[in-house]
Amino acid sequence: MDPRCTMGLSNIFLVVSFLLSGVASLKIQAYFNETADLPCPFTNSQNLSLGELVVFWQNQEMSVLYELYLGKEKPDNVDPKYMGRTSFDWDNWTLRLHNIQIKDKGSYQCFIHHKKPKGLVSIYQMSSDLSVLANFSQPVMSISNITENLSRNLTCSSIQGYPEPKKMSFLLKTENSTIVYDGDMQKSQDNVTELYNVSISLSVSLPEATSNMTILCVLQTEPMKTQFFSSPYYIAPKDPPPPDYISWIATAAPALIIVCGIMIGCKQKKQQQQPGVSRECETIKMDREESEQIKKRVEIHVPKRSDEEIQCVVHSLKIPSDDKSATHF
Ligand SMILES: *[C@@H]1O[C@H](CO)[C@@H](O)[C@H](O)[C@H]1NC(C)=O
Ligand SMILES: *[C@@H]1O[C@H](CO)[C@@H](O)[C@H](O)[C@H]1NC(C)=O
Ligand SMILES: *[C@@H]1O[C@H](CO)[C@@H](O)[C@H](O)[C@H]1NC(C)=O
Ligand SMILES: *[C@@H]1O[C@H](CO)[C@@H](O)[C@H](O)[C@H]1NC(C)=O
Ligand SMILES: *[C@@H]1O[C@H](CO)[C@@H](O)[C@H](O)[C@H]1NC(C)=O
Ligand SMILES: *[C@@H]1O[C@H](CO)[C@@H](O)[C@H](O)[C@H]1NC(C)=O
Ligand SMILES: *[C@@H]1O[C@H](CO)[C@@H](O)[C@H](O)[C@H]1NC(C)=O
Ligand SMILES: *[C@@H]1O[C@H](CO)[C@@H](O)[C@H](O)[C@H]1NC(C)=O
Ligand SMILES: *[C@@H]1O[C@H](CO)[C@@H](O)[C@H](O)[C@H]1NC(C)=O
Ligand SMILES: *[C@@H]1O[C@H](CO)[C@@H](O)[C@H](O)[C@H]1NC(C)=O
Ligand SMILES: *[C@@H]1O[C@H](CO)[C@@H](O)[C@H](O)[C@H]1NC(C)=O
Repeated sequence: MDPRCTMGLSNIFLVVSFLLSGVASLKIQAYFNETADLPCPFTNSQNLSLGELVVFWQNQEMSVLYELYLGKEKPDNVDPKYMGRTSFDWDNWTLRLHNIQIKDKGSYQCFIHHKKPKGLVSIYQMSSDLSVLANFSQPVMSISNITENLSRNLTCSSIQGYPEPKKMSFLLKTENSTIVYDGDMQKSQDNVTELYNVSISLSVSLPEATSNMTILCVLQTEPMKTQFFSSPYYIAPKDPPPPDYISWIATAAPALIIVCGIMIGCKQKKQQQQPGVSRECETIKMDREESEQIKKRVEIHVPKRSDEEIQCVVHSLKIPSDDKSATHF
């Protein structure tokens, strides 16, 4: 290769880049780790052959990505960081830049020069602005059990996205309303890939569920105001009773049934005017103050009855009865 040509080319890179300042540029987008198309939409009206042209792309620091010199790829001027990352599409004059990184964002220019005997003549130039995106992972939410202060710890995280997102929040949706809990978003940026990981955590006192409630975590990302949602977490209207309550029912229910049975028995005996039992009931009535605590406990769980009846029932458990109808229940 003629060294003068290379030198000449380097000078042109500089000159042309100054001329370019006011030129409108194409906006292009590419995803991290994918391929960007850097176009050079040149209409070859003079039907020039590639053998007469010098085509190249450079970045905003004037490093050369790719050069096609008189129809042949010429790697001499190509910056090492673009080596092996480009392919030229001959059909539509597009340079494809592979394995896009966040640091590849910025502006690029393509140039087409006509090589004439007297030197190179610029016949086309185009600037494009590349922005790079990385989709955040779907937010993952976790909801703790109810804590000591009757709140719940909510956390949500999403990883490996770009650019820095705007906002992350929890949504509590009920039949008629949506409550938004904004969190203080924690960000960390990878110092090599420049991708962000984000998370929020909150301690929230959730309202009583009167209808179906759904909790979601939502991440709002920048460029297109896209919202990414976590999987929903459903809360049904009625929480199942706590285990203690269930076990209480399990042990108390048979006792209650017996108590009720005997209660009826007691009543019947009362009606029959059996003096023994009647007197027993009277005695207990007088002892009411002494058994205040027991009475209270009974009152809490037993459907409302008169005190006398309950006391009577409790006491009659000790009385042997030959009346079959009393215990039959
Ligand atoms: C990049 O893409 C390749 C496949 O195309 C995949 O194996 C690799 O994990 C990706 N790297 C990142 C950092 O996403
Ligand atoms: C352009 O040139 C090619 C040969 O270099 C020729 O085959 C073709 O017909 C030409 N097209 C036009 C529109 O002149
Ligand atoms: C150029 O053509 C290729 C297929 O040959 C296509 O994938 C690519 O999108 C085109 N680029 C432009 C900018 O039209
Ligand atoms: C990123 O998300 C957008 C919109 O949801 C989708 O169209 C695109 O294919 C995704 N890209 C990658 C690389 O996941
Ligand atoms: C907390 O929730 C887990 C399941 O999410 C459950 O296994 C555990 O028993 C719960 N702990 C308490 C104290 O409720
Ligand atoms: C909830 O978070 C607080 C700190 O924010 C922590 O002390 C507590 O142990 C957490 N409780 C649960 C059940 O995760
Ligand atoms: C929601 O609204 C409907 C009608 O507006 C009402 O019947 C229903 O009770 C409301 N539900 C709640 C949980 O407020
Ligand atoms: C982001 O999260 C990924 C996966 O959990 C982890 O490998 C990486 O180290 C995190 N990066 C930063 C900067 O925290
Ligand atoms: C990137 O971060 C790691 C630790 O997280 C550190 O060891 C390394 O030196 C950092 N690299 C640069 C270029 O800052
Ligand atoms: C519950 O306690 C945690 C600390 O353990 C605190 O951060 C949080 O604000 C409390 N939540 C409510 C609703 O009081
Ligand atoms: C609540 O959710 C359950 C199950 O997810 C569903 O069967 C029920 O119809 C829902 N009720 C209302 C009022 O949306």
